[in-house]
Amino acid sequence: MKHQRLYINIDHIATVRQARRGASPDPVEGAIACERAGADGITAHLREDRRHIQDDDVERLATAITTVFNLEMACTDEMLALAERLRPHQVTLVPERREEVTTEGGLDVSHDPARIADGLARLNAAGIRTSLFIAPDLHAVDRSLALGAAAIELHTGPYAHGASDPATLRALRDASRHGASIGLAVHAGHGLTVENVQPVAAIPEIEELNIGHSVVSRAIFIGLADAVRELRAAMDAARAFS
Ligand code: PXP
Repeated sequence: MKHQRLYINIDHIATVRQARRGASPDPVEGAIACERAGADGITAHLREDRRHIQDDDVERLATAITTVFNLEMACTDEMLALAERLRPHQVTLVPERREEVTTEGGLDVSHDPARIADGLARLNAAGIRTSLFIAPDLHAVDRSLALGAAAIELHTGPYAHGASDPATLRALRDASRHGASIGLAVHAGHGLTVENVQPVAAIPEIEELNIGHSVVSRAIFIGLADAVRELRAAMDAARAFS
């Protein structure tokens, strides 16, 4: 089966730094370590409230990353202007609510579609690969294509938090197959760990996984490089046996 890309989300390296508002640990140094350990790309989410990643981090990541920089952001004028200036390889548009602990749901692609379509058009015109973070819902997949996205990132949170319910994995499989069949690149992420990643990694249409919190958590015990490598090994094993 085709190589599935592993993008490491380094937000929570910045979370630890922000606990003391200091300089370490540096998420850019973490990004480089992840790349050296085999990550195919680095993902960072610059949130409106700047709770973890800061503007300066994004500026530095844009030049330091030698693989692929996937910038997660809300579809706002401020963020679109930043992306147009820094030109990361990929932008994933995500919903953002100030009070949430993490991104809780997929983007509501039926709410204010003109704003999303306009944002995607600006990013596409800047030569940036575009992706929409959506629920594994066939209607949302169709709408993503109509809005002009090149890719969708399927929200694996419901699967990660309810892996005993086979419907959550079925929804990911169905949405992946449908997305690929209409010409979208299919990505997935949220809540994935070395323990639960394999059934998702085995879905043939999924080209890219974005994984963050579990990697930074494991890094506390086994180091960042080994945390990346064990995920990579789990993904490769899942694809070899399916
Ligand atoms: N993909 C998207 C769109 C996200 O918002 C997040 C969390 O920032 C992730 C993937 C990574 O999720 P986790 O940190 O749970 O692995």
